[in-house]
Amino acid sequence: MQFKTLEFTGDCLRLIDQTKLPRVTQYLDCSTVSDVFQAIRALVVRGAPAIGVAAAYGMVIATRKEEFSSSSELLKALEKSGEYLKSCRPTAINLAWAVERMLGVVKGNLQSPPGEIITLLETEARAIEDEDKAMCRKIGEIGETLIEDNSSILTHCNAGALATAGIGTALAVIYVAHEKGKNIRVYADETRPLWQGARLTCWELQQEGIEVTLICDNMAASLFLAGKIDAVIVGADRVTANGDVANKIGTYNVAVLAEKHGVPFYVAIPRTTIDDDLHSGDDIPIEQRDPTEVSEPGGRPIAPENIKIYSPAFDVTPNSMITAIITDEKIWKGGRWGK
Ligand code: MRU
Repeated sequence: MQFKTLEFTGDCLRLIDQTKLPRVTQYLDCSTVSDVFQAIRALVVRGAPAIGVAAAYGMVIATRKEEFSSSSELLKALEKSGEYLKSCRPTAINLAWAVERMLGVVKGNLQSPPGEIITLLETEARAIEDEDKAMCRKIGEIGETLIEDNSSILTHCNAGALATAGIGTALAVIYVAHEKGKNIRVYADETRPLWQGARLTCWELQQEGIEVTLICDNMAASLFLAGKIDAVIVGADRVTANGDVANKIGTYNVAVLAEKHGVPFYVAIPRTTIDDDLHSGDDIPIEQRDPTEVSEPGGRPIAPENIKIYSPAFDVTPNSMITAIITDEKIWKGGRWGK
């Protein structure tokens, strides 16, 4: 990749500021837990796997500015930081998963002095980042077998390198297919209201030399009708035990179009996005966003004052509409979904 989504320097978490892309490439350094919280909340870093990795480093950062006289004091402080970080975005399971994994390191080593546990925490966060990179690559390698040469693929939101520590999930499939010499064209939904498709997917695919065409969300149907889409690939924020998929608002629209036109609808995820504790998508908490993101895009008002606004950040696509879920281990095609 030509850019780094996130990098831990030992004291701070350096993030490419995704609110400034595509025209400005700027980095933001987070050196407190509150900085990490704000960065996740404001979508400086976004995408389920990336916010999981960011939260893991947030837990390391939480140990940096305090002295701990005992390991139980350290655990108490980190439980508090963990709850705080988990509260910043509710839908992507990767965030809570990463926090719990970091807390597990403390709980499993309570007999050790705080300094040693802190060293272990940094090692664990780096392992979470490295595992994410490896899972992205595997998703790409497994998923590209589903992609025909000379395909046009529609994607929604950004499930690329900017959403992970590695080469992405949905876009990993495209990157690996491209590496293998397949001729792939991508259509990127702009992804209202925050334009992750226009701003981020188009930017990163352009950087990597993949042919990409931007469309407004409401143009997708006409492309399906014209027979111009061969497959859809999206990422996910949470997949429940029955295979229902929460992803960026508008994903379900695309699934309806794919089903109507007989086009395969693929979801690409690392294992860390599966939530076996929830039975179905009905149980997934859906983040509601600030209404002004809809009424004042880019700060410019486009609706009357005091208009009622509905702005969920995610929707749920039922398992019955999904052709396959591509994970870093295998391709799930119906039947029993999950790990
Ligand atoms: O609100 P965002 O930009 O964090 O939403 C991101 C998505 O919906 C992605 O498709 C999902 O997290 C998968 S990223 C590999």
